Amino acid sequence: MSNAITSVLQETRKFPPPAEFTAAAHISSEEQYNAMWNKAKDDPEGFWSEISKNLDWFQPFTKVLEGDMPETKWFVGGKLNVSYNCLDRHLTTWRKNKAAIIWEGEPGDSRILTYQELHREVCKFANVLKKLGVVAGDRVTLYMPMIPELAIAMLACSRIGATHSIIFGGFSSDAVADRNNDAQCKLMITADGGWRRGKEVPLKPAVDEAIKKSPTVEKVVVVKRTGSDVTMVPDRDYWWHDLMEGVSADCPAAELDSEHPLFILYTSGSTGKPKGVLHTTAGYLLGATMTSRWVFDLKDEDTYWCTADIGWVTGHSYVVYGPLANGATSVMFEGAPNWPHEGRFWELIEKYRVSIFYTAPTAIRAFIKWGDEWPNKYDLSSLRLLGSVGEPINPEAWMWYHRVIGGERCPIVDTWWQTETGSIMISPLPGITATKPGSCTRPLPGIVPAIVSEKGEPLEANQGGLLVMTKPWPSMLRTLYGDHQRFQDVYFGKLPGLYFAGDGARCDEDGYYWVMGRVDDVLNVAGHRLSTMEVESALVSHPLVAESAVVGFPHEIKGEGLCCFVTLKTGAGDETLKKDLTSHVRKQIGAVATPDQIRFTNSLPKTRSGKIMRRLLRDIAAGRESGGDTTTLEDYTILAKLRDEE
Ligand code: PRX
Repeated sequence: MSNAITSVLQETRKFPPPAEFTAAAHISSEEQYNAMWNKAKDDPEGFWSEISKNLDWFQPFTKVLEGDMPETKWFVGGKLNVSYNCLDRHLTTWRKNKAAIIWEGEPGDSRILTYQELHREVCKFANVLKKLGVVAGDRVTLYMPMIPELAIAMLACSRIGATHSIIFGGFSSDAVADRNNDAQCKLMITADGGWRRGKEVPLKPAVDEAIKKSPTVEKVVVVKRTGSDVTMVPDRDYWWHDLMEGVSADCPAAELDSEHPLFILYTSGSTGKPKGVLHTTAGYLLGATMTSRWVFDLKDEDTYWCTADIGWVTGHSYVVYGPLANGATSVMFEGAPNWPHEGRFWELIEKYRVSIFYTAPTAIRAFIKWGDEWPNKYDLSSLRLLGSVGEPINPEAWMWYHRVIGGERCPIVDTWWQTETGSIMISPLPGITATKPGSCTRPLPGIVPAIVSEKGEPLEANQGGLLVMTKPWPSMLRTLYGDHQRFQDVYFGKLPGLYFAGDGARCDEDGYYWVMGRVDDVLNVAGHRLSTMEVESALVSHPLVAESAVVGFPHEIKGEGLCCFVTLKTGAGDETLKKDLTSHVRKQIGAVATPDQIRFTNSLPKTRSGKIMRRLLRDIAAGRESGGDTTTLEDYTILAKLRDEE
């Protein structure tokens, strides 16, 4: 296949799950997995109908699936409510006094909300929303720090059928206004500010700016978090605590259609305009609920912590909806991993005896950089399972996670999914899957991926190509809000009948998937299509390297050359180390991946969710000015620094 992506990553280590983990796991044998997966493939409607019994329905559906990709409807005719499934149904069990959310603020304050208390707050706030004139179908923007009121507001919206659009608290007022306008939001919920590394992130002033350009927003609810001075506009802005006073805690959950829009979440596309990914009630909730149970093997005794901000899809599905629908205890943390010191996460694990920990490779690489002494100071023996999400994890970072955080006893679930997929698609099942560092392993039951060429032809084992989904699944996005044509074009336009959302991957002889990153991160070096991620992994396997980002630049002879940005664990790099790294990569991968340039840098440009912005690095490598959108960059000064370091 001439346009297959050449895969050069050689990884042969394999880690079977510990026997005691397997014995207690929800999915505990290969036969069980095979039976589920095959049933889902051969009789999807029968499979999903059976699985849907894990949700509580007000009215049963009459048809499991209507239509085919891209136009699908799931559980047609059914009625249910997400907040009812996350809260009310636990209140008739012993779980009513179980901790639903254990919250820790950045300054060290904490709050624990039991299912009963959370239910009460949600019902009260749902009544507040109604009083403010919000009705089912209205869009509500949430622009908040990681405080319990954010989860309360989400659940209150879902209780009355309002569609929430959460905007990560790090976005600028312009980004907020764009999203408000795209979604035609009626109400905003925010806070005076939030805490980030000891400083206040002012939110209300950004809302004031955004509202000047958001004509559809009528009212704003403000949570008092930091206590700083804010301007409150009469008849427009209301304090959360004032509104909640004396409000009834009786608010029956609305009986909503399966396909009722639950939330919109904006995600960046290759063009400047963000995409409003729309998820609906039943399918999304079922996906979040079942994957939480299967992948994280959630048990009632667990204290589960997903470190993602709720402003991203990971926080939606795996801080709030998935864990709560399972009656689990979910830890929510407002702060950063390195404030007031680099051991903050480990301190929290020790404090709350966290048993399941789910974080991102970018965080793991930072932990490696800060040194083993930080995790080593704390008791991490409560951990039984680790997870990773957001980008491919380099095998060496995987090994560090396994060894230093997992004490070599915790399985690692490397979970591949996307904002668009709503829930985890490809991941180890921790009781049965022998993991291979760097592979997200096999598809979950009901998920039927394939690796195909640019023309949509299936490729053989170990041939790199495009990762597609061949069958619909309940938690897939239904549209891009207000732009159905773009939804059809972006995800189904390239390969008709197949869902393709931009990743390159290969599937090995064991049926394990190895995601190589976005296809626009793929290089063509002397006729070989190479994954930048694999070269990065080779660099990170060098003992002095903490992090690296590899991009292509125009090269006279090779077409594209390899420019490697490298961050060292300590100290500065010199010419000798450049030579050393070059031969290290050649040794690891081969001459085809010989770096043409190595540039040492103290930091890499990242989005606020931690993804390296390779587009900007490509401009620097090519000596171009950076065009396009840089508003998602976490630290604006980095570009100037990178140019100075040339
Ligand atoms: O490229 C894949 C990468 O993140 C993309 C989805 O990003 P987003 O919608 O922001 O959602 C992130 C959280 C689900 C994917 O197209 N990605 C995510 N998880 C993995 C991954 N790449 C490799 N391995 C993963 N486990």
